[in-house]
Amino acid sequence: MPDVRPESMERITTEALANAFIDEQVKALQAQIGDKKVLLALSGGVDSSVVAALLIRAVGQQLVCVHVNHGLLRKGEPEQVIEVFRNQMHANLVYVDAVDRFLDKLAGVADPEQKRKIIGAEFIRVFEEEARKQEGIAFLAQGTIYPDILESKGVKAHHNVGGLPEDLKFDLVEPIKLLFKDEVRVVGKALGLPDHMVYRQPFPGPGLGVRCVGAITRDRLEAVRESDAILREEFARNGLQGKVWQYFTIVPDFKTVGVQDGKRTDAWPVVIRAVNTRDAMTATVENIPFELLQHLTERITHEVKGVNRVLYDLTPKPTGTIEWE
Ligand code: XMP
Repeated sequence: MPDVRPESMERITTEALANAFIDEQVKALQAQIGDKKVLLALSGGVDSSVVAALLIRAVGQQLVCVHVNHGLLRKGEPEQVIEVFRNQMHANLVYVDAVDRFLDKLAGVADPEQKRKIIGAEFIRVFEEEARKQEGIAFLAQGTIYPDILESKGVKAHHNVGGLPEDLKFDLVEPIKLLFKDEVRVVGKALGLPDHMVYRQPFPGPGLGVRCVGAITRDRLEAVRESDAILREEFARNGLQGKVWQYFTIVPDFKTVGVQDGKRTDAWPVVIRAVNTRDAMTATVENIPFELLQHLTERITHEVKGVNRVLYDLTPKPTGTIEWE
């Protein structure tokens, strides 16, 4: 498949167009793969999930999905990947619990770029180890999409083929590389993927790791994960899911004094971030109803261990970036 989208290629906006794309890709994948095996790093994000669903339809058990839990995923995500792909779609799924490996490597590392490097390098190492355990793999599938080709030479930040050693350089399978994000979602829906996977907000490769500001500790990471889960639950309940582009919580690496049950507390603040953008280059802040902010504050301060304050980040991009590090 060429790397340039032909001018004649119609934008996939309907289920009928998605089904035609799926039929065509299934045939092409079957012809390309034959009776060989394909390996896929399945994060549970939209792109890798759509690639997995396409490959399951095309080659079934010849696809080996590897889901690496690096400990920086959102609450419930590994369980959802297992439920959808192993239990419902009967995929050949290898689940790797690498939580301790990642968190041990990250212990004491406060520099954001160093954290990103460690997460990326360790991901490749874990994936490579799993790849070596599999026999007869001839292809590596990737959820590259058209903006990746336009913006970063076709390399996904967290699926870096260039990082695999020579003897593991498989031929690439990239069935959605000419699609824009909105088209990937239409195809995902037509493939029967659940809405919570198809309409997910963007989530960075280093995951919650860049929202646990500074050196990651397990207890503060849990505060990020639990507060993020409450925020997502309340946004869904209040009709903001799918309306706000990206929303999440951050827990900085400092404590402030508070009071609870007549005693002084020394605990972290949780920062809420909710932004809208077209292309992530600039962003505006969502106007969240004050009552909802109060309710979030009430829930987070009472339900999340080690937290005594909630703040709302009012900063657009510029001058702030979307993430805090
Ligand atoms: P910033 O913070 O730069 O974020 O305004 C813009 C968008 O990029 C996401 N982001 C990342 N995605 N790896 C990723 O895959 C990263 O290291 C990373 N850092 C930021 C961020 O969530 C936002 O959508």
